[in-house]
Amino acid sequence: MTSVPSLAATVNQRVADALSAALPEAGAADPLLRRSDRADFQANGLLALAKKLKGNPRELAAQVVAGIPTGGSGAVIKEIEVSGPGFLNITVADEAIIKTLAERAADDRLGVPYADGTGTTVIDYAQPNVAKEMHVGHLRSAVIGAAMTEILEFTGEKVVRRHHIGDWGTQFGMLIQYLIEHPHELDHKSGEVSGEEAMSNLNRLYKASRAVFDADPEFKERARRRVVDLQAGDEETLALWRRFVDESKIYFYSVFNKLDMDIRDPDVVGESGYNDMLEETCRILEETGVAVRSDGALCVFFDDVKGPDGNPVPLIVKKSNGGYGYAATDLSAIRDRVQNLGASTLLYVVDARQSLHFKMVFETARRAGWLDGKVAAVQLAFGTVLGKDGKPFKTREGETVRLVDLLDEAVERATAVVREKSEKVGLSEAEIVENGYQVGIGAVKYADLSTSASRDYKFDLDQMVSLHGDTSVYLQYAYARIQSILRKAGEEQRPAAHPELALAPAERALGLHLDQFAEVLSEVAESYEPHKLAAYLYQLASLYTAFYDQCPVLKAEGGAAQVANRLFLCDLAARTLHQGMALLGIRTPERL
Ligand code: ARG
Repeated sequence: MTSVPSLAATVNQRVADALSAALPEAGAADPLLRRSDRADFQANGLLALAKKLKGNPRELAAQVVAGIPTGGSGAVIKEIEVSGPGFLNITVADEAIIKTLAERAADDRLGVPYADGTGTTVIDYAQPNVAKEMHVGHLRSAVIGAAMTEILEFTGEKVVRRHHIGDWGTQFGMLIQYLIEHPHELDHKSGEVSGEEAMSNLNRLYKASRAVFDADPEFKERARRRVVDLQAGDEETLALWRRFVDESKIYFYSVFNKLDMDIRDPDVVGESGYNDMLEETCRILEETGVAVRSDGALCVFFDDVKGPDGNPVPLIVKKSNGGYGYAATDLSAIRDRVQNLGASTLLYVVDARQSLHFKMVFETARRAGWLDGKVAAVQLAFGTVLGKDGKPFKTREGETVRLVDLLDEAVERATAVVREKSEKVGLSEAEIVENGYQVGIGAVKYADLSTSASRDYKFDLDQMVSLHGDTSVYLQYAYARIQSILRKAGEEQRPAAHPELALAPAERALGLHLDQFAEVLSEVAESYEPHKLAAYLYQLASLYTAFYDQCPVLKAEGGAAQVANRLFLCDLAARTLHQGMALLGIRTPERL
């Protein structure tokens, strides 16, 4: 079973029915039900509707109220009243809350339906660059992309992952030529190479080759010729290029592994994966007139894209020297994803600083007919990670901060926090280490996911591992606390819904929030806004904390039925937290 209508949906439907009975011209108008502070829900839709149909909103509201049975046994709506200029304030019956939640709890998917009209989304995320260190920008793409992938799959969407790594380009001429002249630079100390060692070799080689490239014009020329060999498919050159890619992958996978992220090799289709299509892509663009020659380069122009001097800035698909760039690759990737992978949506989790590139690429693909009305192309653009000083995150020396260093520090800090609290819970050393890891990585992911992706955010480890406030640690503690109560309850006292019981205010607030899980998820999946799921879970943990403070669970004053009913709320809150956090890629340790 899935798809348990939420209480909110049921109430909305009742009001909508009464509305169309009172005012048949209104058709299937939406009463626009929202959670409210005054009552459980407020319906705001009557106001605009009455105005549109030139009626009196308060009269219409009164008619709707008259058409809704309330208060009787089994009634969902306990009270409904007109307020202000024509709002409806609605209070639901305690019984209806617990009954709805019980249906939801009986389902593995917590009553979350599969979305209507799902299709195939090709998601482009976690795309670092070969022979280069990963930085916080790559963290954002990986974390946000992984969360969106899980969320979309949970709603029933077919998701194809594409990790568009930077594995091609002129810089490989320099790297390969240097390796030919210094053949042992990528050798491993021992058989098994760590990601760390692989990256440090690549880094050293990159810096050394760049230095020679800048200082020695003859080397520069040899490097340039090497690019020609690479593009011509020379076997020896390609074999060396592959070494760079393979070494880098060892490093990437070590970082993704540290991030507790499952990146699969067949999904890593880097820029080089589209080499065979580039020529054809350019030919089609030129033949259809979408692209034109300008100063020897093949360009696409846009009326609304101009540089500071007022001259149009084109998208260059083929350079005047015959080389293909980033745009040709992305255009070819679109053809592949739409025509071969059958994408109905293309989703790009990429830095906002590349927005102009994607705007031009999408528009070009539309003109060429590769994107039509049936395929949506969306950039889920994210902002910059800032240091505590509010400037783009750099080391004191002005270098980009290594992602691994940040992750290690986060885990270290989190382990200290876990250790401090561990005695009360009686954790073993192994559990402290494992939980420290889960809390540290969770903290980094949550900090990224809890603000709107489009905004910049400050990377502040002190704040990230704090036990108070909107952090993953706070959520993880809420989850572990519930598990501890459930363990204490033991076998004799099991969670069981008791709809006949009256609910305390904190129970109602928690219950009504639990009721909204499916709706929040469907909104998040549609709008690509994982921060709304984070906000929902944070509120859930906060409401649980209030419930825990106000409503004794195992010592409930109302006796065994109330104990069971409160355990039922605890259990559903825990399952919802666990499911929600899992979708964000964050673990929930059982004991903290
Ligand atoms: N590798 C690029 C970077 O590090 C990101 C790739 C984004 N995806 C794409 N299809 N262009 O900036």
